[in-house]
Amino acid sequence: MTASARWRTFRAHCATVRGQVRYALVARQLELHLPPSPALVVDVGGGAGHQAIQLARSGYQVTLLDPSQEMLGEARKALDAEEDAVRGRVELVEGVGEQARELLGAERFEVVLCHGVVMHVEDPASLNAALASLARPGAVISVLAKNRDALAMRAGLEGRWSDAIAALSSDCDVGGLGVPTRGDSVSDLFALFRRVSVEPVAWYGLRVFTDHLGDQAPGPDLPEILELEWEAGRRDPYRSVARLIHLVGKRKLTRVTDGAGRSSARSGPETDPWP
Ligand SMILES: C[S@@+](CC[C@H](N)C(=O)[O-])C[C@H]1O[C@@H](n2cnc3c(N)ncnc32)[C@H](O)[C@@H]1O
Repeated sequence: MTASARWRTFRAHCATVRGQVRYALVARQLELHLPPSPALVVDVGGGAGHQAIQLARSGYQVTLLDPSQEMLGEARKALDAEEDAVRGRVELVEGVGEQARELLGAERFEVVLCHGVVMHVEDPASLNAALASLARPGAVISVLAKNRDALAMRAGLEGRWSDAIAALSSDCDVGGLGVPTRGDSVSDLFALFRRVSVEPVAWYGLRVFTDHLGDQAPGPDLPEILELEWEAGRRDPYRSVARLIHLVGKRKLTRVTDGAGRSSARSGPETDPWP
């Protein structure tokens, strides 16, 4: 499948129960962590702008960075349907996340989002370092990834027994976009956070009970599904077997001591923690 076809498939997925669970839960989880609007947000791999536009409607100033011209075109179309004020709060920039600092500037943003991207890149460490480099000290970083520790769940619940057995000892599977993508674990991603001075704050599971539903469209029971997924996604053991994991961290404030021994939060890092 070409990259364009893949991202078109992803857009169609957004309207399914699985897509709705993903967007509604991420939005609700983010509400617990974001600073009040207006604040500067960057959405790395922001795609067709679902998250970016939602945040711009709430008053945030959002930069959406994505390497796909097709996805940026979709985001532009979606923005055209918004009020001028919302449109004016979203900037679209073409480029890959790994070069985000060069493209957008270091330590600019109060919120750094990167949802559904890390599973597509070969080197999660360099993407993660780039995300941290965009963040001001104290900024919130939010990453949505595929849960390596529960890769066998989808195939198992769909009755694809041999795929499920294979998934038990793999860190990759072929997802809804028809290409193999990597799963990552909460502990590995939080370890990457710590390497670049980002403190883990919280993590959630998404699609505990709904990941085997394929392209099923939402019905009248959607509110109950969302409530069940919300509750399960923030408690053990359920969140551990979710298809997706949503990790939230905070870029550390650097403590400095002045000549009189007084300690204060510095507005920048002592040394760049990223390569
Ligand atoms: C599954 S979509 C997710 C879109 C959006 N974040 C969302 O949650 O709706 C993945 C997006 O990541 C983008 N992408 C792929 N590789 C990337 C990279 N190295 N850096 C930044 N974005 C990338 C793709 O163009 C695509 O728009």
